[in-house]
Amino acid sequence: MNIVNKISELRLALDECRGRGCSIGLVPTMGALHEGHASLVRRSVAENDVTVVSVFLNPTQFNDPKDLERYPRTLEADCELLEACGADIVFAPGVEEVYPEPDTRCFSYPPTDSVMEGAMRPGHFNGVCQIVSKLFSYVEPDKAYFGEKDYQQIAVIRRMVADLGFGLEIVPCPVIRQADGLAMSSRNTLLSDEERQTAANIYRVLNESRTLGLSVQQTHDYVVKEIDAIPMLEVQYFNIVDGDTLADVSSWDEAQSIVGCITVFCGEKPIRLIDHIRYK
Ligand code: PAF
Repeated sequence: MNIVNKISELRLALDECRGRGCSIGLVPTMGALHEGHASLVRRSVAENDVTVVSVFLNPTQFNDPKDLERYPRTLEADCELLEACGADIVFAPGVEEVYPEPDTRCFSYPPTDSVMEGAMRPGHFNGVCQIVSKLFSYVEPDKAYFGEKDYQQIAVIRRMVADLGFGLEIVPCPVIRQADGLAMSSRNTLLSDEERQTAANIYRVLNESRTLGLSVQQTHDYVVKEIDAIPMLEVQYFNIVDGDTLADVSSWDEAQSIVGCITVFCGEKPIRLIDHIRYK
């Protein structure tokens, strides 16, 4: 496994691969890797000749400096996991390498980037588009792999790919869950044992809500009421939306695919946990 920090080194390595006719898969990450990331990397390794994993804690997508400060940084352990998964190239640049100048580009893909996380974290998806578009330009992958855990992020990136005409395939990969249903996330390591156990109720309630035969509004109210009733958990938002545009729906026959997207505050710090459930 080749670990590179410079864009020029990355390009050199990839030109050589392309010269041999190799297909290239890209897995963008911010490090603090877990089994969820490992599943993306393994899939890319299975589907491409060469897999590049970027490990870059992108400052422009954090609208809260405290969130950026406490984000776990574990490059050494990350590289061990990536080696074990069969990654070929790790691209781990410094901030100055990626942003020699402040990135002043503005991306806007409403409603995908203006609702939910977009409304709660102004500028977040602009930062995601800034870094992901740069990574796509550096790597020029055939396929790029993203976890469905960040459901909204994939919808925004799809719009950006269509807008800028990147000739690559976005491959969404299913959420990897702990045995009790909690979606794997780098932020889970910030939870105490008690918070961690309580957090499993989020997916339990989401799952239950699928089986009750309620209307969209009733489903919404049920999920919010049940989760808010659990000590240490507080719903920030729960939106039941069209799975492609992310616009709110008010009836189950309003869209072909319908997804419930939730963000819950957990514990005292508090830690924001994101999850979603597919209704159809
Ligand atoms: O999903 C993430 O970890 C990040 O948003 C991404 C796509 C790596 C961009 O920094």
